[in-house]
Amino acid sequence: MNLQGRSLLDISDLSREEIIFLIDQAKILKSKQKDDSPIFMGKSVALLFFEPSTRTRTSFEMAAMRTGVRALNLDFNQSSAQKGETIFDTAKNIEALKPNAMVIRHYGSGIPLLISKQIKIPVINAGDGFHAHPTQALLDAFTMIEALGDLKNRQVLIVGDIAHSRVARSNIQCLRLLGAKVTVCGPPTLIPPLATELGVKVSHNLDRSIPEADVVMALRMQTERQNSFQVPSLKEYSTRFGITSERAKAIKDTAILMHPGPINRGVEMTSSVLRDPRSLVMGQVENGVIMRTVLLREILGLGK
Ligand code: CP
Repeated sequence: MNLQGRSLLDISDLSREEIIFLIDQAKILKSKQKDDSPIFMGKSVALLFFEPSTRTRTSFEMAAMRTGVRALNLDFNQSSAQKGETIFDTAKNIEALKPNAMVIRHYGSGIPLLISKQIKIPVINAGDGFHAHPTQALLDAFTMIEALGDLKNRQVLIVGDIAHSRVARSNIQCLRLLGAKVTVCGPPTLIPPLATELGVKVSHNLDRSIPEADVVMALRMQTERQNSFQVPSLKEYSTRFGITSERAKAIKDTAILMHPGPINRGVEMTSSVLRDPRSLVMGQVENGVIMRTVLLREILGLGK
C-alpha cells in the first residue's frame, strides 16, 4: 500500500484493500503503542479548522504529539480570515510555511477538494459541510471491527439526521466497501430523497429496526444546519428516534452502540444508554487517535 503524498478527501479516495490495510495498521499500533514514543521526527502538519471541533482537532494534535510530528494550529478567530482573506489565500500562505500536510475542516462542502487542487502538499479532510468526514468513518470501521470482527453482512443502523450528516455519508461508503448492510433511520424530513441510491435501506420506525442491528449508531441532531420545519421539536424527535434505556432493551446483547459526538444528551441518546456496557462512544474517541496516527504516518511516508 502506498498512501505517501496522497490527499484523503473522501472515502472514495481509498480502495477496500487500503481501508483494510489502515484498520490492520491501527490494530497493530494499538497493540504495541507506548505513550510518548515518537515514531518519526522533523515533520509538521498544519491544522486549519474553520468550524468548531473537539475530538477531530485534539486527536490529530495528539496523534502528532505521539509520533513526533509538529502540529501548527491556525486559530481561525485570530486569523486574517477575520479581515476578509479567502480560504484559498489562507491555505496558500500556510503552504508557504512548508508544513508536510494540511488537515482542513470547513463548513463548505468541497472546500478541502478545491484547496487540494491549489496546493502541492497532501490534504486530509477533517469534515466538510454535509459532504464527508473520511477519518471519522475509518475510526468507526476500526471500532466496529475490533468489537465484532469481519463486518460482512453485519447490520449497521444509523439513526438520526442523515440529510445533514457528513459522518453518515462517509460511513455508508466505507461500510458498504467492507460488506456491511446499512439501514438509515429517521424522520422523512431528515433522510435524503435519494438515500436508497447510496445502497442503504431506509426506515422511519426505530422500534422495528433496532432488534436487527449489530451496530446502532446515533447521529447528532445538527440544528445549526436544519431549518425550523424539519422536526416539530427536539422532544418529539427524541420520543420517536432517541436511544433510551427502554429502547436499549430491544438491542441485541452482542450489539454495540456508537455516536461520533458531540452528543445532545437526552435527544439522540440518554446518559444511561451512554453508560451501557455496549456503548463504545469513548472507544471511538480513543481509536480516533490511533487511526489518525496511522494516517499521518502513511501519508507522510515515514517509518513504523
Ligand atoms: N466527531 C467529530 O467530528 O467531533 P468533533 O466535531 O468534536 O471534531
